[in-house]
Amino acid sequence: MTTETSNTQAKRILTGITTTGIPHLGNYVGAIRPAIQSVNEQDEAFFFLADYHGIIKCYDPAQIHASTRAIACAWLACGLDPEKVTFYRQSDIPEIPELTWILNCSCAKGLMNRAHAYKASVDVNMEKADVDPDHGITMGLFSYPVLMSADILMFNATHVPVGKDQVQHIEMARDIAGTFNFKYKELFTLPTAVVDEDTPLLTGLDGRKMSKSYGNTIPLFGDNPQVDQQKQLKKAIMRIVTNSQLPEEPKDPDNCTIFEIYKAFATAEEVAELAERYQQGIGWGEAKEILFNKIDGEIAPYRERYNELMANPKEVEEILQMGANKARRHSRKLLDKSRRAIGIKPLARL
Ligand code: TRP
Repeated sequence: MTTETSNTQAKRILTGITTTGIPHLGNYVGAIRPAIQSVNEQDEAFFFLADYHGIIKCYDPAQIHASTRAIACAWLACGLDPEKVTFYRQSDIPEIPELTWILNCSCAKGLMNRAHAYKASVDVNMEKADVDPDHGITMGLFSYPVLMSADILMFNATHVPVGKDQVQHIEMARDIAGTFNFKYKELFTLPTAVVDEDTPLLTGLDGRKMSKSYGNTIPLFGDNPQVDQQKQLKKAIMRIVTNSQLPEEPKDPDNCTIFEIYKAFATAEEVAELAERYQQGIGWGEAKEILFNKIDGEIAPYRERYNELMANPKEVEEILQMGANKARRHSRKLLDKSRRAIGIKPLARL
């Protein structure tokens, strides 16, 4: 689904990856793999590590740093080509927080009051007696759709691939861009959210949505550097919770985490074959073995590059700096135009 498309010009795709946590299979299937596959010759793509978004909810500096490194290495190892794509770290682009402030000054507070993430936090507080509705809510959480708008508008992105939960933020970016364009000058392209309905949302080990906050993820490259990654993957898959049906009993593939994850990796034929095996009463151990082999077949080729990059932070830093240089060629110009548009410019040429 695309919320709106009126662009016939070449696409400029942009998306951010919040740097909290270590990449897991849900991130791979939901973001890394589709983003890398979506890059083609005609389009321009901007992918960035959203570390200023990372600090909104995570106050552990070591975790922010480790996560930025692991996420950068994972994207590169899985095939992101930093020559083709502009791949950078948000905090290396000082024009982004500058633009954020400028946009803050014409963004209605009421617009932010309507943000789902903020409203959900307020609702939790309202359920408790004697708690301020804004208890525990920082200005960072409240106003982060403005930072996200600056991320997008800074590069005049046309298409922004996101999960469903982020669509409202893209709508806000359009609103904020429109207000600025109307008040001052037509500088910003209105972005379009791209939500791919075919991108699977993975279920985690315990049957809930796979998410770092539930502690139910399957790490993409393991989470313990001391232990062989293939073994870690196998061990995690063996921990997937199933019902207590015995081998030989026919099983329902549609209510099974193993099957659901398998669908995200296997071809239609392979999926049909496994469904057949469920009918015939496959044992859970064997189903997990089949799932492990499938995922391992896809991930194994990336492991060596991942480990190499993790062991060479200098190489990764160089790649990010190259990306920042490319990105800043755009952001410096557009920030300069934005400042002039609002009346901030030198008094005279010196
Ligand atoms: N907030 C997004 C998320 O949590 C990440 C993000 C930050 C982003 N800036 C962005 C996504 C700009 C798209 C465009 O998923």
